Amino acid sequence: MIYPIVAFGNPILKKEAEEIEEGKNIDALIKDMYATMDHASGVGLAAPQINQGIRLFVIDSSLMLDEEDTEKGIRRAFINPIILDEYGDAYSFEEGCLSIPEVRAEIIRPEKLTIEYYDENWNLKEEEFTGMTARVIQHEYDHLEGILFVDYLKGLKKRLVQSKLIDVSKGKVSTDYRMIYPVK
Ligand code: NI
Repeated sequence: MIYPIVAFGNPILKKEAEEIEEGKNIDALIKDMYATMDHASGVGLAAPQINQGIRLFVIDSSLMLDEEDTEKGIRRAFINPIILDEYGDAYSFEEGCLSIPEVRAEIIRPEKLTIEYYDENWNLKEEEFTGMTARVIQHEYDHLEGILFVDYLKGLKKRLVQSKLIDVSKGKVSTDYRMIYPVK
């Protein structure tokens, strides 16, 4: 099943998501999240973006890399993740979000992170990620905390995207995937 994606302006995107009961069968939901992400050509999707306020996201960072990259991407689900540490050189990279179509902005984040999470078989893992994979994880993890990438913009950069954000919240955007808009 392909879910519609919640657009900017919906309160669920600003709420902290809740932990999932350990061992709960969420296989179907994870499968549907992968399908929804792929359908929208996304590299990551967090549960609040399909209107479910729970601590789960899926990523496919391989789409951001090509054969020349030494880094290999991963396709994986993260359940109840906790970023334990972020480190390395901070760098700027242009981010976008399926909930905020047509808006892109340079965001500065640390290069590496260590994260604890359950994989889709409820195995507890602690791993280090770097590069594009770390970047996608940071963006998706923020969704579970109720943070959107545009929240990092300040001053002029924030003002430049403001009218576009209002358009998105009113449904004045065209996407090739279905969306749920807060204001009709
Ligand atoms: Ni996003």
